[in-house]
Amino acid sequence: MDYRKQICAPIEAEFDEFRSRYSSLFSCPNPAVDLLLKFLLRRNGKMMRPILALLVSKCYGQIPESAYHLAAAVELLHQGSLIHDDVVDESEQRRGRRSANAAFDNRMAVLLGDYVVSMALQQITATNDIKSVDTLSELIGTLSEGEINQLNALNYTSLSEDVYFDIILKKTAVLFSSCTSLSAHLSGASAGDIEAFRQFGHIAGLCFQIMDDILDYHDSTETGKPSGNDMKEGKFTLPAIYALTHSDKDWSNHIKAVRSLTATPDQIREITDYTLSNGGIDYSFSKMEDLKKQAIQGLPAFLSPELRIAFTSYLELITNRSN
Ligand code: IPE
Ligand code: IPE
Ligand code: MG
Ligand code: MG
Repeated sequence: MDYRKQICAPIEAEFDEFRSRYSSLFSCPNPAVDLLLKFLLRRNGKMMRPILALLVSKCYGQIPESAYHLAAAVELLHQGSLIHDDVVDESEQRRGRRSANAAFDNRMAVLLGDYVVSMALQQITATNDIKSVDTLSELIGTLSEGEINQLNALNYTSLSEDVYFDIILKKTAVLFSSCTSLSAHLSGASAGDIEAFRQFGHIAGLCFQIMDDILDYHDSTETGKPSGNDMKEGKFTLPAIYALTHSDKDWSNHIKAVRSLTATPDQIREITDYTLSNGGIDYSFSKMEDLKKQAIQGLPAFLSPELRIAFTSYLELITNRSN
């Protein structure tokens, strides 16, 4: 099943239009900045967030100018947060190529990330909608909060699913739910539909990060970014949290070692093997299945069959992807 084709079917022309507008933003009269922007332009991602924003808007007919600006703003904010994330995670690969911090250095990457966030703010301002400006401004803080909480979790001695879900809500899901709720708002949706789309984005975002965390157990040639990195960074994600908290063995020394970044490769391998053979991945998939059902049930009733298929395929793509 070609999920991507089904997702894009209702917005083919609009997505082309979006991509050309988006690419045109990556230029600057200052040659030093222009070089950095061209570096980014050669590394486009999957564009999951703008696609979602455009799809929601399409439910209300012609996509307004403001929704194109919103779609660009959320992708730019995502791009900026990834540049900063790779600095924080000391990760040298992104989208199958060298990350900005690896190609330049941390100093340049931090500044480039800031520059891209400023591009996002300009795009959201171009919606001429104060609610969108307000929501995006708050969102920038929430994304940082998620990453701060994740770093702070290195001080915790036990594992908790609740803490995990709070982190991924803030660092990932709120961006998706802002995409959908603002897009509905800008397209003239009713308050009830805005809330329904917000909820869909929220669940899609949670599933997106759970799947990203599952992919950390896959090969990096598939994902285009380093694999097995999460525990090296001190992070426990859903598969390991489930497996270790449902184990008879006492893992506290391993947990302490991972969180203090002193775990040996053998210790990390032991946790990984245990997680893989004790249902950590299966549990994460079953969690996503439950969430997906909820998301589909909550979609507004008026959607055309084509759009309903697009939203369903969107969730399927999230949970069946390999990168
Ligand atoms: C990666 O997001 C960061 C997460 C929230 C897991 P994507 O997988 O959407 O990244 P790109 O934009 O396609 O590279
Ligand atoms: C998600 O965190 C990135 C942001 C929300 C900024 P990760 O650290 O898990 O993402 P990847 O795996 O590097 O893409
Ligand atoms: Mg990272
Ligand atoms: Mg990270």
